[in-house]
Amino acid sequence: MKKTVLVSGGAGFIGSHVTVELIEAGYDVVVADNFSNCDRTCYEGVKKITGREDLPLEVMDFCDLAAVKALFAKYPIDAVIHFAAYKAVGESVAEPLKYYKNNLTSFLNVLEVAQEKGGCNVLFSSSATVYGEPDVVPVTENTPRKPATSPYGNTKTMCEDILRDTVKASDGKIKGILLRYFNPIGAHPSALIGELPRGVPNNLVPFITQTAIGKRECLSIFGNDYPTPDGTCLRDYIDIVDLAKAHVFAVTRMMEGKMKQGCETFNVGTGRPVSVLELVNAFEKVNGVKLNYKFAPRRAGDVTAIWADPTLANTEMGWKATRTVEETLKAAWAWEKHLAGK
Ligand code: UFG
Repeated sequence: MKKTVLVSGGAGFIGSHVTVELIEAGYDVVVADNFSNCDRTCYEGVKKITGREDLPLEVMDFCDLAAVKALFAKYPIDAVIHFAAYKAVGESVAEPLKYYKNNLTSFLNVLEVAQEKGGCNVLFSSSATVYGEPDVVPVTENTPRKPATSPYGNTKTMCEDILRDTVKASDGKIKGILLRYFNPIGAHPSALIGELPRGVPNNLVPFITQTAIGKRECLSIFGNDYPTPDGTCLRDYIDIVDLAKAHVFAVTRMMEGKMKQGCETFNVGTGRPVSVLELVNAFEKVNGVKLNYKFAPRRAGDVTAIWADPTLANTEMGWKATRTVEETLKAAWAWEKHLAGK
């Protein structure tokens, strides 16, 4: 019997890539999204890539408890991967209640319904943001979390705790995995799905590709006076397809009863620090384009350096990032060109 995975926020950047990998691994997937921060492009792209014209789509809001109940009643859901959340750090500082209300309520509803139906496997999309500015890099899963520097980051920390406590109280009925993403970038090699930021991108790679295509005039590199080899920040950029595959490993681990604890945590990163300047240079070189950029003041809230120690995910889940930064930046550029109809 095929197992069914519900992907909340399944039409977004990460959700759409995860849906593809789950289908290719033999899972039935139900995509649920309220399209608050994406359009149908990626959902349509997923159908094309997988040949699944009948891919179930539920347009709904996870803050609506009755809708979540109806969803679980309609499908035989074996696991939930919960992405549905707001994710703009700056906006969360300006509108904290919007973030707490949406990101917490939607997850509480998923857990309440999972509990009501007698249990479920729950995978939560967490973030390296929970480590704050780490004292030691790379970070392992045991590196202490730091107080969040934004309401967005705080919702990740809080949802981690909510899942852990719910698992603990569930008598083994609810199982949980927390995946802490580092910096997901790139696009599917088909160039049919990718990142679709609304308005001015907050994140580095969409800003790079939009500058290269001519949608933005100039990339600002925020800070070149950090205590790093070239003065720009260090991050762990992880290919979106590699990241998506980590979810398949995690879901399978839950389904096959291979977990060692009721709630487990894994870093999803490459273990490779790359500076902003290195990334920009790599983009120019691999794609043969010149990027207009300038150095600008530091951005508030940025940490100097963070990258993953991915050993636990490598050894315990059997997952490993395989793509080079160059391959990933090629895919990101192919996607931007696809969007521009080039
Ligand atoms: N950067 C620039 N110019 C830009 C955009 C980004 O120089 O136009 C730099 C940033 O200063 C940073 C690096 O590129 O050094 C990466 O920035 P991103 O915004 O792409 O990613 P972050 O590391 O800031 O964000 C990640 C996750 C968020 C999470 C955040 C916590 O994407 O989900 O870490 O700090 F909340």
